This record gives sequence, structure tokens and C-alpha cells, in this order.
Amino acid sequence: MPEFAVLRAPSQVLFGAGMAEAAGRVAATHGRRVLLITDPVIAGTPGFGTVEASLRAAGLDVAITTGAEVDVPPAAVDAAVELGRATEPDVIVAVGGGSVIDLAKVTALLLSHGGALADYYAVNSVPGPIVPLIALPTTAGTGSEATPVAVITDATTAMKMGVASSHLIPRHAICDPLLTLGAPPVVTAHAGIDALSHAIEGYMAAAETPSVDLVLGRPQVGKNGLSDTLALTAAGHIAAHLERAVEDGDDLEARTGMLYGSLLAGIAFGNSGVSTAHALQFAVGAATHTSHGLGTGLLLPYVMEFNRPARPHDLAELARVMRSPGGAVEHVHALGQRIGLPASLAEIGIAQEDLRGMAESSFNFKRLIDNNPRELDIDALERILDAAWHGDPARLEEVQSVRS
Ligand SMILES: [Fe+2]
Repeated sequence: MPEFAVLRAPSQVLFGAGMAEAAGRVAATHGRRVLLITDPVIAGTPGFGTVEASLRAAGLDVAITTGAEVDVPPAAVDAAVELGRATEPDVIVAVGGGSVIDLAKVTALLLSHGGALADYYAVNSVPGPIVPLIALPTTAGTGSEATPVAVITDATTAMKMGVASSHLIPRHAICDPLLTLGAPPVVTAHAGIDALSHAIEGYMAAAETPSVDLVLGRPQVGKNGLSDTLALTAAGHIAAHLERAVEDGDDLEARTGMLYGSLLAGIAFGNSGVSTAHALQFAVGAATHTSHGLGTGLLLPYVMEFNRPARPHDLAELARVMRSPGGAVEHVHALGQRIGLPASLAEIGIAQEDLRGMAESSFNFKRLIDNNPRELDIDALERILDAAWHGDPARLEEVQSVRS
């Protein structure tokens, strides 16, 4: 029995091939006016056509914006909010990857509560419910269809910033694997290994002392029983299906396993939180303009190795669900290489002398750093980065020796 558990999630999750056709009837429960958000690529896919047709078949008034962009730039937010103000939607439907769903979240937020996004960077600063969201993911990665988090690009600093509030959790997640069939191998690989990093970091999150202030004061509350159960199941599904989905994008069984894994990982870390691989990725991504999932996936085994002394049983449990007799760290590292992740931070153009500055800037992501199961300082972050720069988790061996 877990001593502590928290579950905040969409009020309705529909998972399965063909479920996208439910969008119209689900949307109609909220009213007649729909704002449908996607990006220019997804707008041309059969899956988007299915969703749009179901909205029209339900007799709804549909305003469409295809203006979503990677990393949710301010101009995309402004355009979506402007269309929203003109059409006053009863419900917002997002069809796309993490950037599309995150754009829908912040658009709903600004339509409901006004102001600028910077007003909401502080955790739990969203004052109340937002326009209801229906999220239909087209990648198996961010889990944004189920999380309280939106990552956007700040209008003044151009830095990526997070908005986190339980009010941002989509009301409905409609997860239809048919919508993910078209994603190209690189997208599948990076999104999929990011989903694995959500499962593993969500599972290895710091364990907080349970209290009412903790559970009501933060959208993400650290390691707990329900997120652990979901995270382990997610890790098993992702480990079993990621390589297959990258190799053959039309493998519906692999796509289904990946979408289920990323959904469960999203619900898991949506409640427990992610940590150091995500904190370090902000610095790696800013320096190299590589994708979020490339960074979290590359860094993940090093963070796991660093945390081994604090959580040996967690790593053993992860190894069990991922069917990896050689160990969870080795499994994740080898899987990353098999799906085409770069072998090291050096390979993506980072200079060794820049690692210290990256460790320092990552340390500022306090919410993520504090969620690490083992205490971290800037030296420790630099050691993790140095091992990743060399492409060799065994360089953290001094840490491993603590095992005995
Ligand atoms: Fe992530």
C-alpha cells in the first residue's frame, strides 16, 4: 500500500484506434462554438480531417487556426488569442504534438483570465478554470494531453518558460493511435524517448512529506503511489514499442503501445513532476537548438546513474518492467543509441569548457532540481554533463561505488 497518492487528470480519457471520431460529440457537450487549433503540417493529415469532419457532423461552428509553431512563440499565442476573442469559443480542440496542445492551453488561459503569460509563470498562479480543452495528440511524447504544464517561449527573453496549474489539464484527452501513424522516424524517436524520460523521472521524483499545503499548493507533488503505478506501466510499454515504432511508422501495435505509454507517463509526471534531465535539457537545447526529446533522452541515463545510490530499488524495478537484465541505466542508454540519438554532448557541438556554465544555468530551474531524489549542486550537475559529454555513463563510477 502506498502511504501517499495524488491523481489529477483529464475528467475523460478516450483511448483507442478510431476514437478521434468522438471529438464532435464530446465538444458538443460544451456548446456550439469551437476553436480548433493545429499546425500547418497536421492540418493536411487524414487524422485532422477526421476530427474536423466529426465537429462539423455534430453541427458545431468551427473556427480554425493552423498557426501553431514549435516552442509556442509569442506571435502564435497572439494570433490564437485574437481569433479566440473574435469567436468566443465554448470549447477549444487541439490536434497536434506538444506545441499545439500547449498553445491551446495558454490560449484558453488568456481567453479566460486575460493579462500576459508572464503573469502566470509562478506555480499555481492561474486563478480558476479555463475554457474547456479537448486534446488529441499526434505524437507519443509530451503527454501534454494529460498534464498541468504548458511550455512556451517568453515574449521578452525568448527563453522557454513553463506555466503549471491543475487548471491547465485538458478536460478531455482523446488518444487515437491512428493520428500518430504519420510522424516521421526522428520525431517518433525524440518524442518517444522524452516520454520514457517522463516515466522514469516521474517515478524517481523526490518523495515529499505529505501535507495539505503540499497537495493543494503545487500541481506536481513528488513521488506517490498512483503516479508510480502509471509510470512503471508507461516505462514497460515504451521500452517494448519505441524501437519498433521508429523502424516502422505504420506498425499500429507499436504506435498504440507508444501512445498508451506516453499518456500514462504524462499523467504520472503531471502529478509527481520531472527533474534533472529536464533541467539540463533547457541548457543543452538553448545552446544547440536540438529538440527537447533529443536532450532529455541523451541525458536521462546519466541522471539515472547519478541517482543510483539514492534509489537502487527504483532502478531495479524499472529494469524489471523494461525487461532489461543488464540494468535500467544500460537499457536506456543502449535504446537511445539504437533509435539514433547522438552518442554524446560533444557530438552535438558542445565544448567541454561550456559545461560549467550550463550546469549553473540548469541549477536555476529550482522546481526541477528540487525534485531530484539525490541532493544536487552545481558540481554534481557538471559531473553529469561531463559524463554525457564523453558519452559514457561509467564516468560516474565514483558514484556507483557508493552502491556497495
Ligand atoms: Fe519532456
